[in-house]
Amino acid sequence: MHYKIQNNTIIYDFPKSLDFMTQKGKILFGPDFVFYDELMPIIRILFICLIQDHENMIKLGLDPRKGVLMSGPVGGGKTCLMRLMQMMLHPYHKFQLKPCRDIRLEFQKEGFGIIDYYSHQSFKFSPGF
Ligand SMILES: Nc1ncnc2c1ncn2[C@@H]1O[C@H](COP(=O)(O)OP(=O)(O)O)[C@@H](O)[C@H]1O
Ligand SMILES: [Mg+2]
Repeated sequence: MHYKIQNNTIIYDFPKSLDFMTQKGKILFGPDFVFYDELMPIIRILFICLIQDHENMIKLGLDPRKGVLMSGPVGGGKTCLMRLMQMMLHPYHKFQLKPCRDIRLEFQKEGFGIIDYYSHQSFKFSPGF
């Protein structure tokens, strides 16, 4: 297992978590799926944010109350990475993945209330989702 629970804390093993995601990546996206070495620093930072490791976030100069904005070219692997992170996390840390396309359609129908709804903290971290 790539995480364990000790004294009410979820402790993740980073190398094992990477192995878990690589195996799932090969199943979902094909046998060529790999985590490129040059991306590892970014993947490590994303991992620290998603497991809410506040101590390491502060060391990195990141504010634990803020979200994460990931940008990059279309087809660069952002969605795949987030899907794998989602699968790897303990249910307590899981988040909902929602395509922007869907939010755009809801915005067209419902208006600005939708932006408020998706900005709400309880939506971002919904344990057991
Ligand atoms: N780490 C990776 N190794 C190999 N192929 C990948 C990797 N990440 C993504 N891909 C391939 O690239 C395609 C596009 O990735 P995707 O996550 O949809 O990009 P983005 O969300 O950045 O537009 C995926 O369908 C997948 O087959
Ligand atoms: Mg995408």
